[in-house]
Amino acid sequence: MNLYTWDELKHFVDHCSRCGLCRTRKRPVMGRGDLKSKIMLIAEAPGRVEDEQGIPFVGRSGQVLDELLESIGLSREQIYITNINKCHPPGNRDPESEEQEACMPYLKYETALIRPRIMVCLGRIAACRVIRSDFRITREHGQWTERKGFFLTGVYHPSALLRDPSKMEETKEDFLRIREKLDTFL
Ligand code: URA
Repeated sequence: MNLYTWDELKHFVDHCSRCGLCRTRKRPVMGRGDLKSKIMLIAEAPGRVEDEQGIPFVGRSGQVLDELLESIGLSREQIYITNINKCHPPGNRDPESEEQEACMPYLKYETALIRPRIMVCLGRIAACRVIRSDFRITREHGQWTERKGFFLTGVYHPSALLRDPSKMEETKEDFLRIREKLDTFL
């Protein structure tokens, strides 16, 4: 597998037309953060605000994410965050399976570049794509799977926490376990 630099990958993503989302997106949203981070967070697709700014998690879910990161002493500068789909699905619908598939090479190249030890899937769609196609976020959040040297886990998506704040406490506990796992690699 070729290894591309982040700038090269961003260039590919900026000019991507691998699926129909390129016709409705405003700006593709390449992942960003510390390219040497041991931890990579993966969500599903940019929201409306991200589509306007071209930066992941800058809207309301981004604020929730920052609160979770801060609760375990991390900032955006210390993690790498990306999405399965780099373009915003119109009306904020879930990205379709073919759209996810079309975008997967970028995630693979990002993973090869960053070489994280921990991958945290934010929400069902990312967990089903990255961990297991029948992953049940309500039952399995916070559980670990080890695969090819990566430690994978899924947690509630920050937007789910906005809709149902009662999930916040258990998510903070999941983040504490993520911090413990991360500490074993630092
Ligand atoms: N929700 C996502 O899944 N990704 C973003 O980048 C922002 C909101």
